[in-house]
Amino acid sequence: MSDAPIGIYDSGFGGLTVWREIRHALPNESLVYLGDGKNCPYGSLSEERVTELADASVRRLLEEGCKLIVVACNTATAAAIGRLRETFPSTPFVGLEPAVKPACLRTRSGVVGVVATERSLAGRKFLATVARYGVGKRIMTAVGRGWVEAVEAGAEAAPETEERVREVLDPIIAAGADIIVLGCTHYPFLRPVIEKVVGGRGIEVIDSGAAVEKRVESLLDEYGLRAPEGHAAAYRFLSMAGREYCERLCRKALSGDGCAREK
Ligand code: DGL
Repeated sequence: MSDAPIGIYDSGFGGLTVWREIRHALPNESLVYLGDGKNCPYGSLSEERVTELADASVRRLLEEGCKLIVVACNTATAAAIGRLRETFPSTPFVGLEPAVKPACLRTRSGVVGVVATERSLAGRKFLATVARYGVGKRIMTAVGRGWVEAVEAGAEAAPETEERVREVLDPIIAAGADIIVLGCTHYPFLRPVIEKVVGGRGIEVIDSGAAVEKRVESLLDEYGLRAPEGHAAAYRFLSMAGREYCERLCRKALSGDGCAREK
């Protein structure tokens, strides 16, 4: 048992979609969320740069006494999870990957759309998963250009955001995809507009949030790190971008907007 917090890290607001899943399923656990904010977006930065940023953020979370760290960022996971596990061998890590495997197993049309950042789509693990499960399927990948920026700006409902979403999804829809993978933790905040764009065509839109929460639970059990029953959870928000950004993180975490689970 441990009443130490779980650390959750992302380039910015995106990991809050994972924070909400964990908070909902594990109400006894204290959580420290670090949204970099200063260096966001990570999507087209080099692997070395993202690894440096992830290292600094994880050190910050360990200073807070975190017992387990969730890298709630597909981009940072693709670039840095191996290095983080080597550098901090006594800390259990959970990383995030686009949910390509379940999508390939579930598709009926044989066409799967995957929207993620450039760095995630170039990741070795991602390419290996596509090579393994995408045999005989058409995997259409696309970068969600402008999507992360829209979420960071709080512009989820803006007409320009809907345009950005249409630009990316229209070719995937036209190719006959029946399942679209949101491979970036920022994207579930755009679910209302994504659902509107794909609406009425029977296309399933999936993300990795629930699977990650299950993985957190299984690691807490494996390491004997669950918080005691009845423990009063505390929530903290940190950022590399200063106080105002932290306050925005806190408000967004608790607001419930755009998050299917909290509706
Ligand atoms: N939320 C992140 C991800 O899951 C990173 C987005 C970005 O900073 O470009 O990939």
